[in-house]
Amino acid sequence: MRLVFMGPPGAGKGTQAKRLAAAYGLRHISTGDLIRAAIQNETPLGQKAKPYLEAGQLVPDELVWELARAALAERHYDHFVLDGFPRTVQQAEWLDELLRQVGRPLQVVLNLIVPDELIIKRLSRRRVHKITGENYHLDFNPPPPDVDPSLIIQRPDDRPEAIRQRLEVYRATHEPLEQYYRACGLLVDVDGVGSMDEVSARIQAVLKAQGVLTA
Ligand code: AP5
Ligand code: MG
Repeated sequence: MRLVFMGPPGAGKGTQAKRLAAAYGLRHISTGDLIRAAIQNETPLGQKAKPYLEAGQLVPDELVWELARAALAERHYDHFVLDGFPRTVQQAEWLDELLRQVGRPLQVVLNLIVPDELIIKRLSRRRVHKITGENYHLDFNPPPPDVDPSLIIQRPDDRPEAIRQRLEVYRATHEPLEQYYRACGLLVDVDGVGSMDEVSARIQAVLKAQGVLTA
């Protein structure tokens, strides 16, 4: 399976991509998670990416491409669910060319649609585990009681001004990307409002309708 999740910050890309990856043995590739790991490990790439990520701006393509290429190569450019990549038409063209060279084109691009007021609700109450990167939500998916509370933190880009900046970046880049994938016949809109289980069920239905999932 070769899938992409796109959608605004807080749409549930990570939540749903992880569920699909666990259910079907896919590699979940979140460029955001890969960048955060590089920052945490203080690699040269992480040091270059840090100011962009913290300000809610896009990290330069060359850095993101390096991470995406390595992650895709691990499973021979197949059995992956991309989350938050591509984010621009330039990144989409790069990915198409890479997958064309290996003869494994994308199958579906899932476009999660969530209104702004819900995005703010989801992001302002999100918490993450400092070491594992596990995502929680204080109301909908709280950290289990056995997790050390001092390890539960807020992402630096979940501060209100960084959320605003991320939404602006999303609005400026999303439409051309959406048009690009619609023109390729790959884009399917998915309503991202509702419980995590409801959204998962919609995604499964789409993948079945597209012939990507058979069971
Ligand atoms: P990234 O980490 O990808 O952030 P994002 O796109 O802003 O998306 P989020 O991770 O905030 O949200 P999500 O859609 O994954 O939602 P989640 O499932 O967590 O990127 C961060 C930064 O890295 C970028 O700003 C940029 O700087 C850089 N970057 C990354 N990729 C790049 C690229 N390709 N090019 C350049 N730069 C790049 O859900 C959110 C919350 O809601 C959670 O608390 C969750 O528990 C909860 N939740 C989820 N679904 C539901 C539901 N159905 N009901 C109730 N709560 C829910
Ligand atoms: Mg995410």
